[in-house]
Amino acid sequence: MSRQYYIAGNWKMHKTRAEAAELAKALVDGLKDGKHKYLAAPGFTLLETVAALVKGSNIRLGAQNMAAEEQGAHTGEVSVLQLKDLGVETVILGHSERRHIYKEDDGLINKKVRLALKQGLEVILCVGETLEEREAGKAEAVCETQTVKGLEGVSAAELSKIVIAYEPVWAIGTGKTATPEDADAIHAYVRGVIGKLYGAEAAGKIIIQYGGSVKPENAAQLMAKENIDGALVGGAALKADTFVPIAKFS
Ligand code: PGA
Repeated sequence: MSRQYYIAGNWKMHKTRAEAAELAKALVDGLKDGKHKYLAAPGFTLLETVAALVKGSNIRLGAQNMAAEEQGAHTGEVSVLQLKDLGVETVILGHSERRHIYKEDDGLINKKVRLALKQGLEVILCVGETLEEREAGKAEAVCETQTVKGLEGVSAAELSKIVIAYEPVWAIGTGKTATPEDADAIHAYVRGVIGKLYGAEAAGKIIIQYGGSVKPENAAQLMAKENIDGALVGGAALKADTFVPIAKFS
C-alpha cells in the first residue's frame, strides 16, 4: 500500500502532568524503531510537558480540539495560536464526544477545520454514525454528510493536510469493535466521497484511520484491510503496554 499507516493516541481527559510524562517517555522509547506515523494527543494542560518529551522523536504532538476563532473574547476556549506556540502539529476535530456531548455541529467543525488549515496544522477529522443511525441503515449517509460538510471550502492543496478518522459512535469506549469488513466498507465509501469531491488521485492518497475499541488483539486484522490506513486509539492509548503493540502491529 502506498499510503503510510498512521496510528494516533487520543488521551481524552486523562492523566496529570507526571502521569503524562511517564507515558510520553515510555512511548518515545517503545516506538523509536517503529515504522509508521505516530501521534500523541494529550489534554491541553499536558501539551507543554509532552511536547518537551516527544521533541525530536517520531511522535507528533496533537491537540484534541480548538476554538473556531483565532483569538479574542472566548472565555474557556483554547486558540490555534496557543496550540502552535506549544508545538502542536495536528488537531483532532469533530470527535464524536465533541459532536454528541458538546453539541458541535458540522458548521462549527468546518470553521475549525478551515482555521486549523489556514494556520498550517494537520487535521484529523472524525466522522461516524450512532447505533441508531446504523440500525436505520444510515451509516453511509451520515459519514458522507459529515465528510462533505466538514471539508466545505477546503482546497485540493489543503486536502494533503487532512486525515479522516472513521469512528462509529457505538464502538467508542464500549469494547465493541466494528468488524474489519464493516469498517472497511465505510472506509471505502468515504474514500469514494473524497473521490467525488477531489478526484481519484486525492482519494487514493488520503489516510483514513479507524477508531473505536482498537486493541492489540484486533489492530492487525483491521490494518490488513485495503482501506484502513491506521487507527485513532482512545482507551488503549493510555498505556504504553497497549499502545505500542497497536502502533507496531504486524
Ligand atoms: P476507544 O476510543 O479506543 O476508547 O474506543 C476511540 C476514540 O474515541 O478516539
